Amino acid sequence: MKTVLITGGTGLLGKGMEETAPKGVKIVSVHLRDYKVPKGRATHLALDLRDKRAVDRLFERRRFDAVVHAAGLASVDYVETHYAESLESNIVSTLNVTAACRRAGIHCVYVSTNAVFDGKKPPYAESDPVHPVNKYGSLKVECERLVQETLEKYTIVRPILMYGWNRGVTRPNPATWIYEKLLKGEAVELVDDVRENPLYNRQCGEALWAVLRKRPSGIFHLAGKDSVNRWKFGLEVAAAFGLDASLIKRVDSSRFPGIAQRPKNTTFSVKRMEDELGVRALTLAQGLAAMRAEMREGA
Ligand SMILES: NC(=O)c1ccc[n+]([C@@H]2O[C@H](COP(=O)([O-])OP(=O)(O)OC[C@H]3O[C@@H](n4cnc5c(N)ncnc54)[C@H](OP(=O)(O)O)[C@@H]3O)[C@@H](O)[C@H]2O)c1
Repeated sequence: MKTVLITGGTGLLGKGMEETAPKGVKIVSVHLRDYKVPKGRATHLALDLRDKRAVDRLFERRRFDAVVHAAGLASVDYVETHYAESLESNIVSTLNVTAACRRAGIHCVYVSTNAVFDGKKPPYAESDPVHPVNKYGSLKVECERLVQETLEKYTIVRPILMYGWNRGVTRPNPATWIYEKLLKGEAVELVDDVRENPLYNRQCGEALWAVLRKRPSGIFHLAGKDSVNRWKFGLEVAAAFGLDASLIKRVDSSRFPGIAQRPKNTTFSVKRMEDELGVRALTLAQGLAAMRAEMREGA
């Protein structure tokens, strides 16, 4: 494994991969908008993956030993209200990337999501049937099918709700959003009827490097050890960073009628991740403590 292409590498997952990359591996990271990415391990390129010619040129000019395809619109509410744009962003980009991988015989790791499930029968194993409840989940199911039906060398990973320090240029995640609000002394409302086992982004990075080392086929669920609702998650963030938990108000999803439907409980089984990738799931307290340690490192 010498050079790995990460599409969507400026996101939280890409940052987790950069920060856990094995020595000697070169990372080329592609993102869409033309901005300067804070310094890290990767070489960052701005390139629109919806543009087939641009993708083909990238693969002609550089030799990749593996590809992690994580790019695409991934905001559940944005996808629900901007479906045509989201189709292009997810389906067309995935078509272009998988076609290039197929031609060059490169192993492709497609990054999917827990939103492929309806949340009615947790915990979810990799073999459970998919049944999305929103447009984002439906798009990711289609991308998974595309990968499964057109590639021989592939792995599908499904990370669950991720948390960790993001870059200044990328979207906040639940931990950084709650942290910022509480730090400013602002109240937050968090639902108690949506539940997952959240995943620390550096642990996601470690699991992806294990996938790239072992190149297993099939699907892998990537998640933390503790299944918590969003309200409990907020309380844990407040405790980990010594912030005022009394600013957190417990509500349920009926408080936010305008947003896309969420699956209620998509808690994952982490058995395959632990047994076959050799990655032991972190508790939420361990993940948040690692985030706190990153702060001290000045990450
Ligand atoms: N974050 C989570 O909690 C979570 C949970 C489950 C699954 N996932 C999946 O994990 C993957 C990564 O998520 P993330 O949160 O790390 O990413 P993210 O913050 O949503 O960032 C998306 C990335 O895709 C890039 N991108 C979007 N459209 C593109 C295009 N047409 N051409 C090139 N690049 C494009 C963006 O570039 P710009 O920075 O230039 O916009 C950015 O680098 C996604 O596939 C998502 O579905 C995420």
